[in-house]
Amino acid sequence: MKSYEERLKWFHEARFGIYVHFGLYSLLERGEWTMYSERIAPKDYDYLADLFNPRPGAAAEWCRIAKAAGAKYIVLTTRHHEGFSLFDSKYSDFTSAKRGCKRDIVREYVDAARAEGLKVGLYYSLLDWRYPGYFNPEKYPENKESLVEYVHNQVRELMTNYGEISLLEYDGGWMADLNPDKEYQINFWRARELNAMVRSLQPDIIINNRSGLPEDLDTPEQVIKAAVPGRGCESCMCIGDTCCWGYTRNNPNWKTSTQLIQHLVNAAQGEANYLLNIGPMPDGRVRTEEYDRLMDVGTWLNANEKAIRSSQRCELIGTSVPGVVDLNLQGPWTRKGKTGYWLIFRYPGCEATAVRVGTRPVSARLLATGKELTVGYDEKAGKMTIKGLPVLPPDRHCSVIEVEFEDVPRLQAEPDLAEWIVR
Ligand code: GLC
Repeated sequence: MKSYEERLKWFHEARFGIYVHFGLYSLLERGEWTMYSERIAPKDYDYLADLFNPRPGAAAEWCRIAKAAGAKYIVLTTRHHEGFSLFDSKYSDFTSAKRGCKRDIVREYVDAARAEGLKVGLYYSLLDWRYPGYFNPEKYPENKESLVEYVHNQVRELMTNYGEISLLEYDGGWMADLNPDKEYQINFWRARELNAMVRSLQPDIIINNRSGLPEDLDTPEQVIKAAVPGRGCESCMCIGDTCCWGYTRNNPNWKTSTQLIQHLVNAAQGEANYLLNIGPMPDGRVRTEEYDRLMDVGTWLNANEKAIRSSQRCELIGTSVPGVVDLNLQGPWTRKGKTGYWLIFRYPGCEATAVRVGTRPVSARLLATGKELTVGYDEKAGKMTIKGLPVLPPDRHCSVIEVEFEDVPRLQAEPDLAEWIVR
């Protein structure tokens, strides 16, 4: 049996994964909540299953793009809230194996991910909008029981039929009436029994916190959060608007590549991961707005991955609140042992100064090119000066300086805030 740390080792090394939201909702082009938000009855939604026909090789394309973007793992919605399974199931006829294209998309995806050397993650929604027993368990108790049976059976299929699964991302575990009582939710889904079964079939798996139980991973949405020390954390975010995980034809607010890289950096500085979503088009292709940005992230990450993979928290200024870069400095820090990485977004040109540096820097270089820089240090003032930087930012998104310190870089205490004036 591996320890918690051993099981999460690959996850911390990775720091970056790609989420794929794909299902019947993709055909409607209005996001993955369309069935519910437009109250489309299951009988009127059913026809979409016969139209579902992603082009051959779609899953392989998602995986190739994920790899080129620098992701080390990928997570596919095997069944979202609409109830359509992208896998062959004995417990449902509403699947891609029995309707439309008659293909097991999960099988294609799992094979493609392995071919690219990506760890395999599966998303599975506990709730299924086709079950009245989910919305009103008191009125439809038998239907509620059959929903939970079906969920347990499908999770068993996913954990049995596709080889090693590295990550299980539950979703939709909340109660329809939004009853916040966790114990009620856990009992509703029989989550303890469910997760014990998962672990007996996949002993090394990482499970997220959305079945009601905390399990291994926190999964904040649309916000970057630092990990609770000792726990896995993965911020799940969209490239476009926050309600558009599934393909949305008109998606007005695309984040810039620089913003996406900042989110990745902010996650890494809090020892957390960044799971960035794509919502492929009805035929499975990845839209240009997403593709182009992912290629930018990949180019940056390939050149700077030492600052991101297996990153540790660094005390130096710029790191205290993920998502916020403090005190008008140039950018946050990450660290690996005694090596600090200064991730500069607001490039100062020629010379960069860091304050409250309590550990002596020994040498510095531009991470992407290896160009050596001159590092000066005034120990009393806690000031580190890096000279010899190019006038223009070497990287238009984020230029990274690697600094070797004598010891683990520490923040210098500043008990008297006026000290620097009178010194
Ligand atoms: C939410 C949404 C959903 C999306 C998911 C991603 O819970 O219901 O549509 O799949 O988060 O994490």
